[in-house]
Amino acid sequence: MTIVDEPTTSRPPIWFEGDVPPEEVPEKYRLGRAYIPKARYLDPDFLDLELGRMFPRTWQIACRVEELTDVGSFVEYAVGDFSVLVVRESRTSIRAYHNSCRHRGTRLARGRGRVGSLICPFHGWRWNLDGSIRLVLDREEFVPRSDDDLGLSQVRVDQWAGFVFINPDPNAIPLLEYLDPIPRIFEPFQLENFRLRWGKSVILDANWKTGLDAFLEAYHVAGTHPQLFRLDRTNDKLASLRELDIRPWAPTTVYERHSHYSALGPKSSAAKGDGKDPSKRSGDNVSDERLNVANAVQYLHEDMRGLENERSWRAAEALKTAEVPEGMTAGKYFLELYRELSIEEGYDWPVITTDQWTEAGSSWAVFPNSIILPGQGSAFWYRSRPYEKDPNKSVFEVFSLDQIPIADYDKKRYFEPSHFDDYRDADMGQVFSQDFMNMTEVTTGMHSPSFDGHRLSEEQEMTIWNHHRVSDRYIWRD
Ligand code: FES
Ligand SMILES: [Fe+2]
Repeated sequence: MTIVDEPTTSRPPIWFEGDVPPEEVPEKYRLGRAYIPKARYLDPDFLDLELGRMFPRTWQIACRVEELTDVGSFVEYAVGDFSVLVVRESRTSIRAYHNSCRHRGTRLARGRGRVGSLICPFHGWRWNLDGSIRLVLDREEFVPRSDDDLGLSQVRVDQWAGFVFINPDPNAIPLLEYLDPIPRIFEPFQLENFRLRWGKSVILDANWKTGLDAFLEAYHVAGTHPQLFRLDRTNDKLASLRELDIRPWAPTTVYERHSHYSALGPKSSAAKGDGKDPSKRSGDNVSDERLNVANAVQYLHEDMRGLENERSWRAAEALKTAEVPEGMTAGKYFLELYRELSIEEGYDWPVITTDQWTEAGSSWAVFPNSIILPGQGSAFWYRSRPYEKDPNKSVFEVFSLDQIPIADYDKKRYFEPSHFDDYRDADMGQVFSQDFMNMTEVTTGMHSPSFDGHRLSEEQEMTIWNHHRVSDRYIWRD
């Protein structure tokens, strides 16, 4: 293939074997060097391509394993025209079916629930949890059909790290191959031992990718979340030039399908090749380093209700007055306090090495529509989907996950996400609200005739570009 735009980024490659050469893509959708034409966000025909060619052929997170608490528990996952029911068939087996009756097509179930067998709400046909037909009223009146023909249509389903993935494409590559290199890199975090703390979905007046884009870079932090620079979180005035000097830097790395950014601390001191170091936190660097770290941890727990938890909050509280050992930073000492508390309280708490943190970074785009922020003890999972066939609307979900103590691994937990038509009613805290506001402003501004497309940072925003490169592989190739 011809590579039209040789990358200048420090982190090549950005094109991969098997990519669609840009000249084969219609001009209005053609990617340029760190450039994405706006038609890929605003054009209803492009959404049709995504819904018709990309979503039906990729692995997507449908739910968490723990949401399928009991035999017969089900969760619906729907995008565009397809809706899938993920069902716990037995203690050890999870299946997925197209949510459509074999009789006249009726949708079988919505949302989530628990059933003994799947029963069509129209004429009452029934299926066993393994998808086999159990009851057809007056079956003798029908043309003889095999049980196979009347069984529910299966959808590929698999699991990784406590996430249940589905893929409507029967010929798709296996999940673990698709996720590469995420399973290897995420291993030390043990996300399979995490459980949902809370989940909220909101309807956004923004394209489904605009929702994701807002969380795929940390370049916006200085502009959008200036309060993060300060010990005083109630002060969200624009960042001053002095504060901008300590702005965080978060270069992106792209893989064949997925990508991530890694927040490395102040740009002024971070070097290319540095890795994420969880003991470093950005904030007001002038004051007591202990307060700086403790406030950053506690703010995340209180405002975002994720990535930190009640245990790390307590470790942060202890740090404020702790005697930090000679030769150790407050950030490193905080991690020690958190670790001690975790082990004392029954958590499996392996030491995550510097190299492992470096590879893990801060936030991952899991193609096509999820983001996972890995962390030790707590993590976020975001998911975005188009809302019906409207390119300017989407359903965005935020899920906060916490590791659970070893003694609770087999305990059932019931989880109910909440839904809000308007994010302003969702009590999402300051940081998320600032991000959601950006998404609608981006959408309105993108419609301006003066705007042609996104011009991205080649160091800090290639996660966003990467998504489009990968989606071209599904949209334009069979
Ligand atoms: S449509 Fe489902 S039983 Fe008739
Ligand atoms: Fe943000």
